Amino acid sequence: MHTIVLATQKGGSGKSTLAIGLALAAKQAGFTVRLIETDPQGTLSNWQRRRTADDLVVEPIYHAADIEPRLKMLADSGLQLAIVDTAAGLSAATTAAIRHSDLCLIPARPSVADIEATVSTLSVARAWKRPYSFVLNQTPIRGQRIDNAANTLAEEAALDLSDVLARPLIVMRNDHQDSLANGRAVSEFAPNGKSADEIRGLWRWIETRLELSATTNVQIDQVISAAGGMLHVAAELSADETTTLAS
Ligand SMILES: Nc1ncnc2c1ncn2[C@@H]1O[C@H](COP(=O)(O)OP(=O)(O)O)[C@@H](O)[C@H]1O
Ligand SMILES: [Mg+2]
Repeated sequence: MHTIVLATQKGGSGKSTLAIGLALAAKQAGFTVRLIETDPQGTLSNWQRRRTADDLVVEPIYHAADIEPRLKMLADSGLQLAIVDTAAGLSAATTAAIRHSDLCLIPARPSVADIEATVSTLSVARAWKRPYSFVLNQTPIRGQRIDNAANTLAEEAALDLSDVLARPLIVMRNDHQDSLANGRAVSEFAPNGKSADEIRGLWRWIETRLELSATTNVQIDQVISAAGGMLHVAAELSADETTTLAS
C-alpha cells in the first residue's frame, strides 16, 4: 500500500481539495483508495455527506496513536492507496501521518506566506526521512507561463528540482470549488475540463514519484529559494503582460 499525506501549516492551501481530487483520479486509474481524515474540521466527512455515491470511504482518525495501526490494518487488507488529509498547523496526528507516509505532498499557493509556511512540514518529513514534494496550487490562469518558468529554473538550477516540484501546477479554477460543493471530485464534475486534466496529470506524476524510493538530498533552503525564484520570474512575466496590454 502507498500512503500519501497532504500537509502544510497554512490553511486554505488546498490540502483537502487535492486529497479528494487525487483520490478520485487514482480510483479512476484503477487503484483501491481510502481517504483518511485527521483534521477535526471535517472537510472530507462533510464532502462525503454531500456525495450521493458510496464508492469512496472517508475514514476519520483524529488520534495520533491510532494512525500507524490503522494504516497497517488497511495495508494488510490489500488496500492499494491511502490518502491522508491533515489539519492546518502541525499536530501530533499530522506528524504521525507524515512519519508513516510514502510521500508527503506539500501544497502551497504561489505566495511568499504559503511557501514560508512549508518549512515546518518539510522539517518533519526530512527528520523522518520521508520523500516529499511541493504542489503549487491555485496558481493564476497564466500557470502555463509560470510552469515554463519553473521548467527553465529547474533546468538551470544546480540542483535537481524534478522530484521536489510536482507537475503540473494546479491552476485556480471554479471547477474545484463547484465539485466539492456537489460532493464530487473535479474529474467527475467536469471530466473534460482543464482542472480534471491537471489533477489526472498530477496523479500520474505522483505514481511515478512513488516508484522512486530514494529520498532527495535537496536542502530546505534550496527548495524555498528555488520556489521564490520561480515566483519572481512569474511576477516579471505578469508585469510584461500588463505592459503589453496597456500599450
Ligand atoms: N485549484 C483551486 N482552484 C480554485 N479553488 C481552489 C483550488 N484549490 C483549493 N481551492 C479552494 O480553496 C479553499 C481552500 O482549500 P482547501 O482544500 O479547503 O484547503 P486546506 O485543506 O489546505 O485548508 C476551498 O474553498 C477550495 O475549494
Ligand atoms: Mg482542509
